[in-house]
Amino acid sequence: MIDKIKRTLIIKYTLIIAAILLSGFMASYLTYRHNLVRFLEENLTDYLADEVWEAKDYVITQKSAPTIHLINNNNKIIHNFTYWFFDKHLTYAEVPEDQVLAGRLLTRLSEEPWDELKTYHLKLRGEKKKSHFLMMKKDLHLRDGRLLEVFALSNYKPIIKSFRRYAHIAVYVIAASLILAYLLGNLLASRSMKYIKTSYEKQKQFVSNATHELRTPLSILLSYAELLEYKAQDHELQQNIKDEILHMNDLIENLLCLARYDNNTISLHAKKFDLISEARKAINHISELSPNATIKLEDSSNINIYADQGMIYQLLYILLDNAIKYTPKKKKIIVKISSDSHNAQIVVSDNGSGIASQDLKHIFDRFWRGDKSRHQKGLGLGLSLASEIVKLHKGKITVESSSKGSDFIITLPLE
Ligand SMILES: Nc1ncnc2c1ncn2[C@@H]1O[C@H](COP(=O)(O)OP(=O)(O)OP(=O)(O)O)[C@@H](O)[C@H]1O
Ligand SMILES: [Mg+2]
Repeated sequence: MIDKIKRTLIIKYTLIIAAILLSGFMASYLTYRHNLVRFLEENLTDYLADEVWEAKDYVITQKSAPTIHLINNNNKIIHNFTYWFFDKHLTYAEVPEDQVLAGRLLTRLSEEPWDELKTYHLKLRGEKKKSHFLMMKKDLHLRDGRLLEVFALSNYKPIIKSFRRYAHIAVYVIAASLILAYLLGNLLASRSMKYIKTSYEKQKQFVSNATHELRTPLSILLSYAELLEYKAQDHELQQNIKDEILHMNDLIENLLCLARYDNNTISLHAKKFDLISEARKAINHISELSPNATIKLEDSSNINIYADQGMIYQLLYILLDNAIKYTPKKKKIIVKISSDSHNAQIVVSDNGSGIASQDLKHIFDRFWRGDKSRHQKGLGLGLSLASEIVKLHKGKITVESSSKGSDFIITLPLE
């Protein structure tokens, strides 16, 4: 399944990156082309204006035979050409050296009706090669009623060549873009997969742990049930059965709670209450169950907090329960609660066995239990629930521990 997701991600990322790269390249090509064509058209308009000006003077001193100048059109640089017709007779021309091309141009220009000041694209073959021209025309009606037609042409083959060069580069760029897109896609997919893989592995681990935890009390219950057939009146046996059922009930309750946090289906029922009173309530409750523990709440005035009262009680209870459970003898637990203008801080300190530094990163993992704690009853879910509660309240939970004991520090926003 993971491989399938990775493949789909690579394809999607590659296509998206390729589309971005290609559209960027296309946009730059179209802008380049548009600017060049505009530059050519502006050039041709200026050239036509100059020719019209010269043509007006020229017709006054007009000779009988047309004047023809030959212009090199080697297709390497842009050349301009012109044809002037006086009452439909060629009077003056600057034509390409290629005689075949010059002749074909003359025929085209004199045969067709052309609109004034409109840009035309002409494609004509000369002796050997094809030429492309941009053409514009201007009519001049002289006072004596005669017509002077001035044609201006620009051979834009060099530009076409440069477009072709651009297209050649485009092929390489597109190929390189696709390779780059694939590599980037692969990299991004691998990065995304890292997180998906970790949470998938965590989920798998969680399901296998949960199954294991549920199977153990069930098989114990089964063996008790079998024993009951022989010792129906055994009270200790009945108590054991009750304990196992309660244990399983706790487990299912906690699992259900965690599942709700995971699915974001748990909602905060926030209201204003006094954090100190809530802590006192939790301390009193747990003290009744563990009379051999001394739990001290350091003096403090009221601290009003806007939070889910039930959840905060559960959070305090989880921390106090751990502090008592993991402090073997002379249990002295101190709860300090303080606040500043934005946050409340709860510190639960014990003088217990402490947590090994290499274990600190695991204590909030689901079902994780320290080796030293195995002799105590527990599911390994308390701290993961505590951290979900703190997360839901946008707070922070940290732990500092040494061989002399542990401090669990919680910061919660007051509002
Ligand atoms: N105050 C503490 N001192 C020493 N170790 C602790 C303390 N609190 C937690 N731990 C360690 O972290 C582990 C995880 O704690 P957590 O509360 O999540 O589970 P648990 O206490 O084992 O079971 P339960 O789900 O019943 O609370 C414990 O098993 C223990 O090894
Ligand atoms: Mg616990």
